[in-house]
Amino acid sequence: MPFTIVQGDITQQHVDAIVNAANHSLLGGGGVDGAIHRAAGPELLAECRTLGGCDTGQAKLTRGYRLPATYVIHTVGPIWRDGRHRERELLTACYRNSLHVAQEQGCTTVAFPLISAGVYGYPKDQALQAAVETVEDFLRTHNLAVTLVLFDREAWVMAREQYGTYVADLR
Ligand code: AR6
Repeated sequence: MPFTIVQGDITQQHVDAIVNAANHSLLGGGGVDGAIHRAAGPELLAECRTLGGCDTGQAKLTRGYRLPATYVIHTVGPIWRDGRHRERELLTACYRNSLHVAQEQGCTTVAFPLISAGVYGYPKDQALQAAVETVEDFLRTHNLAVTLVLFDREAWVMAREQYGTYVADLR
């Protein structure tokens, strides 16, 4: 099944599930987390309050409420320190566990943001590499269509240069 990289806003994606780069509390924040909560409406926060938070690398499912996506899969990326504190392993776990949750829920289309590459400070090139390699690996043995939605220009230019075969230039 296909893997596509696009530039855009994940809250606009018409897919079965979008993934949220959340924090341990799952009670909202800035960046993509804030954008998803604003677009989904207050019902999303109400459901998140019932989940009891989430550990780094794990993933939890809610409905999508006012989003075009049916579900939101909330995952918590690692905060970048120096690359020697299991950051790559934990970031890989975010993608892998989110994909497993999506598949268990019967989703066939899933969109990811570039987890940890904003407030959490993961270097964008390394975050992108981890995302691409983990999704590629998962798709060797699973039937899902995955989109990586890049919001900022820097990540987008990097993706075009390094992973051009996956890039869909929609504009
Ligand atoms: N669509 C797609 N990607 C987006 C959007 C959007 N609408 N908005 C931002 N991004 P960040 P993190 C990109 O900071 O680093 C929150 O406060 C952004 O350009 O959202 O995992 C949480 O509550 C960047 O490339 O997430 C946590 O406290 C990527 O999404 C913390 O931030 C991730 O940036 C999580 O930090």
